[in-house]
Amino acid sequence: MTAHRDADLVIDDPVRAATLLRSGGLVALPTETVYGLAADVTDHVAIERVFDVKGRPRGHPLILHVASPERVGDWVTDVPDAASILAERCWPGPLTLVLPRGPRVPDSVTGGRATVGIRVPAHPMTTAVLERVDGVVAPSANRFGRVSPTSVTHVLNDLADRLVPGRDAVLDGGDCPVGVESTIVDCTVDPPQVLRPGGIPTEDVHRLLEGRLGPTSGPSRASGMLVAHYAPRRPLHLVEHDADLEREVERLRSAGRRVHVLADESDLVVTARELYRRLRTADDDNNNNDNNDDDNDVIVARLPPPHGLGHAVRDRLSKAAAGSGGRT
Ligand code: TXA
Ligand code: MG
Repeated sequence: MTAHRDADLVIDDPVRAATLLRSGGLVALPTETVYGLAADVTDHVAIERVFDVKGRPRGHPLILHVASPERVGDWVTDVPDAASILAERCWPGPLTLVLPRGPRVPDSVTGGRATVGIRVPAHPMTTAVLERVDGVVAPSANRFGRVSPTSVTHVLNDLADRLVPGRDAVLDGGDCPVGVESTIVDCTVDPPQVLRPGGIPTEDVHRLLEGRLGPTSGPSRASGMLVAHYAPRRPLHLVEHDADLEREVERLRSAGRRVHVLADESDLVVTARELYRRLRTADDDNNNNDNNDDDNDVIVARLPPPHGLGHAVRDRLSKAAAGSGGRT
């Protein structure tokens, strides 16, 4: 039954995906970062369903996705110089710009804010979809607060029972090559500020803006940037160095815990691409778990160094640890 339903949801035709979106359906779309749960931005009822299907609190703003940079002007009142520079160099790609919101953007998208987050994703199938609609809102296609999806299987595991075959769909574009969400840069403040580290390294944003970038740290101004997020069900412990990793694994094992180690790569591109898949595997792995007693399992991850894509991975792991094992 479940397998049938899953197969009925998966499509591979962007034209069909666009038709479903225009009819008010929800379509999980592949992007270079993660899969997004898309609704037509002009369809209020479909946008409401996105919040329901994800279990996401209303008021958390959604990112608007459009086919090309030329279309951004339809949705914003101004594109400051810094935004033009970043758009020119990074789009299509894993960058979201927060810009002054234009009158066509519905309140439900921005949670009533005067700004809108907008991006031009780089995935050929999703570009083909976006060329056939005005634009879509697309939060990551996972249940609220849980680990983001980088494959069709992840989307189906999280959302299949909440989507309706024939009305909704999952567009199969393979595994997401970047693996962490877009970098969000607020260009409505001067200097601009990185609100979320992501697929474009913060150092690159800094360089492109010739250093005119505000500090990343400080109180987060966007709701939805909760401390606990991206969370596995099992407790997640973080360590900084290999030596700490060995010690922590040893300590937990001698206390009788089953330890799942999130192995780190020296290559940060691979670390980012594999992060969510590894978190999900560590969360689901039942090897050696003969009595199905999950309480004993714990995940230990070593943080990558704080440069390049390491910023985004550290951000996600820290939030995942804060929400792991039922903590919120
Ligand atoms: O890579 C991505 O950005 C993926 C793919 C699917 O495009 N999308 C994504 O969406 O990560 P979501 O909803 O999981 O995260 C959107 C983040 C939230 O933290 C939200 O607070 C922030 O974007 N955001 C959206 N609009 C904003 C705005 N006007 N001002 C500040 N933050 C905003
Ligand atoms: Mg998300």
